[in-house]
Amino acid sequence: MQIFRALLPLLLAAGCKSPPDEVHHMPQANVAHGMALIERAGCGACHVIPGIFWPRGESGPSLAGFAEQGLIAGRLPNRPDVLAAYVRNAPATLPGTTMPAMPLSAQDARDVAAYLYATGKR
Ligand code: HEC
Repeated sequence: MQIFRALLPLLLAAGCKSPPDEVHHMPQANVAHGMALIERAGCGACHVIPGIFWPRGESGPSLAGFAEQGLIAGRLPNRPDVLAAYVRNAPATLPGTTMPAMPLSAQDARDVAAYLYATGKR
């Protein structure tokens, strides 16, 4: 039983890992621009985000390794179009969410989503 408990997270992680190239491929998006937008919009005030060193707020969840996460905010499928809609206008995409709407255009939001998918676990 003990060994099963120890292995469970590994099994879950392996099972949930989707092939990034198929699911999170965003050829039209600009990852570097996404990073600049994240810095400008101040997402770091509420989130730990790999590559963004300041600020690193924790009122929102860490966004490290986001490509490997199954759901957005625990309720939406983690797909590029849904993530872009969510980071731009979370309350409209997921009523009741505590993530605020952010001042991003639709293209900006795609670049931001591509950056989140491109980052690793840290
Ligand atoms: C004022 C604080 C705040 C700011 C600023 C903010 N967020 Fe959030 N964000 C949150 C909170 C709180 C949640 C959790 C929402 C929920 O679970 O309903 C969240 C959730 C998220 C999620 C889903 C996380 C998960 O684990 O599923 C993503 C992705 C996200 N935010 C991206 C961004 C991006 C990108 C920006 C900047 C454009 C940003 N956030 C700016 C507070 C913030």
